[in-house]
Amino acid sequence: MEGLADVHLRRLITAQGGYDWVVSEFVRVVDRPLPDHVFHTICPELLNAGKTASGTPVRVQLLGNHLEAMASNARTAAALGSHGVDINFGCPSKTVNRSQGGAILLREPESLFRVVEAVRNALPADMTVSAKMRLGFDDTRLMLDNAAAIEAGGACEMTVHARTRAQGYAPPAHWDELARIRSHVQIPVIANGDIWSVADYHRCSAIAGTQDVMLGRGAVRHPDLARRIRSDDHATADWAATRLLLMEFWADIRTGMPRKHHTGRVKQWVNHLRQVHPPAETLWREIRTIQCPDAMDQIIRPSLHDVPKSAR
Ligand SMILES: Cc1cc2nc3c(=O)[nH]c(=O)nc-3n(C[C@H](O)[C@H](O)[C@H](O)COP(=O)(O)O)c2cc1C
Repeated sequence: MEGLADVHLRRLITAQGGYDWVVSEFVRVVDRPLPDHVFHTICPELLNAGKTASGTPVRVQLLGNHLEAMASNARTAAALGSHGVDINFGCPSKTVNRSQGGAILLREPESLFRVVEAVRNALPADMTVSAKMRLGFDDTRLMLDNAAAIEAGGACEMTVHARTRAQGYAPPAHWDELARIRSHVQIPVIANGDIWSVADYHRCSAIAGTQDVMLGRGAVRHPDLARRIRSDDHATADWAATRLLLMEFWADIRTGMPRKHHTGRVKQWVNHLRQVHPPAETLWREIRTIQCPDAMDQIIRPSLHDVPKSAR
């Protein structure tokens, strides 16, 4: 997730277990091949055999519509060690859509087909090509045509965020539409949208008719959600345990990203955590105006005796 699930959060979340693979933030492709350093910046895991520190494979995501540029950048991603290439047809950003990238292409199934085909043809047959789409742009009229176009272009699987671009991120996600898509294509359809708990997973899975899901914001707010889904454990990690993860995250970003981003990144995560952990609200009020990393450090890194023994 662009600007959110970066290498640091991917490292932390996958370390909790339960993930088969994760996808990078998108690499924006305009009309030319990008240098290796762009891929390494967006997906540093490429320097670690394409895996997070805990060994979860990472798939580079490309966003664009220029056929030759998509093909050559897909080749670069593969050569650098990406575990497959994912293509973004879901991004709702006005800026991205204005330049004919992301969800805007859902108005033209033919374009989806050509982009997927260009990427597929650029890569070895054993390299996974996947695509991520929404149910449509303004409405779902082209939903089945879009899914069929992605399949015909040669994708091995597709993830569907069960909302249109017009629906943004507003609940509910329309999991029932995923069942319609599944019955229209042969390739696996991975369900996505509004899976916040183990119970949501089971509901989504029953309605969409698949066990395969992609977690978005649910994984950010509950880093252990994938592991709990797999073990059918409904008990979420308490705040003390999450607070320890926050300290780890802070230590990681302090050493792994430019100082000017430190406070913003930690605030962004705490802002998500306070939606599900009431004590994080208190922390949020303490940190939200802090700009100086050293001042943030005093608050985020309490001495260990502040953390209950059970969570150490
Ligand atoms: C801040 C943010 C950034 C996102 N960036 C991407 C992205 O780069 N690529 C992508 O395929 N989806 C992206 N998404 C969409 C999510 O992957 C997911 O499809 C969407 O949030 C719905 O799932 P959820 O309800 O579980 O969050 C982003 C979502 C958010 C909130």
